[in-house]
Amino acid sequence: MIPVKSERDLRIMRQSCAIAATVLDRLCQLAQEGVSTWDLDQAAKKLMAEHSCRSACYNYKNGRLRFPSYACISVNDEVIHGIGRKDRILKSGDIVSFDISTVYQGFVGDNTRTVLIGNVAPEVQNLVSATDQALRAGIAQARAGNRVGDISAAIQKHIEAHGYGIVREFTGHGVGRSLHEEPQIPNYGKAGTGPVLKPGMTLAIEPMVNMGVEDIFVGDDGWTVYTADGKPSCHIEHTVLVTHDEPEILTLPIKE
Ligand code: MF3
Ligand code: CO
Repeated sequence: MIPVKSERDLRIMRQSCAIAATVLDRLCQLAQEGVSTWDLDQAAKKLMAEHSCRSACYNYKNGRLRFPSYACISVNDEVIHGIGRKDRILKSGDIVSFDISTVYQGFVGDNTRTVLIGNVAPEVQNLVSATDQALRAGIAQARAGNRVGDISAAIQKHIEAHGYGIVREFTGHGVGRSLHEEPQIPNYGKAGTGPVLKPGMTLAIEPMVNMGVEDIFVGDDGWTVYTADGKPSCHIEHTVLVTHDEPEILTLPIKE
């Protein structure tokens, strides 16, 4: 069953998502040459506390492992689930993704952005803008009466037009009372297939796109996912509400 949120649920979801977006925005500003991913993770921890929420990924369980970081911070060939490290210092030419998921009053907001550090090679900049456009194309399909496969197919079409590799092992997902709810939202698929979308569904749509091959592996820490060919990867995500009308992006920062 795909949860449909009530008006009350949505009031809290909107707040959780706005907080997740505000924390993400701040981290993107702090991401500069010379800063360690550990310091950025500590900043995420502090910002979440200041907004009276907690991280949905800190202590997240995978078998006997627990995720040790407050944000997922993934640099270059790290696809997702990177862990903050004191010896990982950002340098010019890097791309870094922050995946921020917050729990606020029992509801989860989930969003990710990839930012450029200093001078990034044009072909890597293209990867980032194509991933962003693929996400926009996917979001445009998140309409009542459409199916999950419409979102997937729109993303796939956009990514494959550039010849990039689509990560298959991880997907977007429903989000709300838990970080991962039904449905799974793969970044590839067939239009007109899968569950029908209804107003009140909240979906985390998140293309993970490799500049080279689609193949990935999990590193020795048991979490960090890397591209098999060592080429860069990009990840961008929004939490979106299906409405009677246009899709509504919930993960937009609080205006201050
Ligand atoms: N936002 C990520 C997701 O959509 C959160 C991963 S939490 C982790 O799955 F602990 F697995 F890193
Ligand atoms: Co997600």
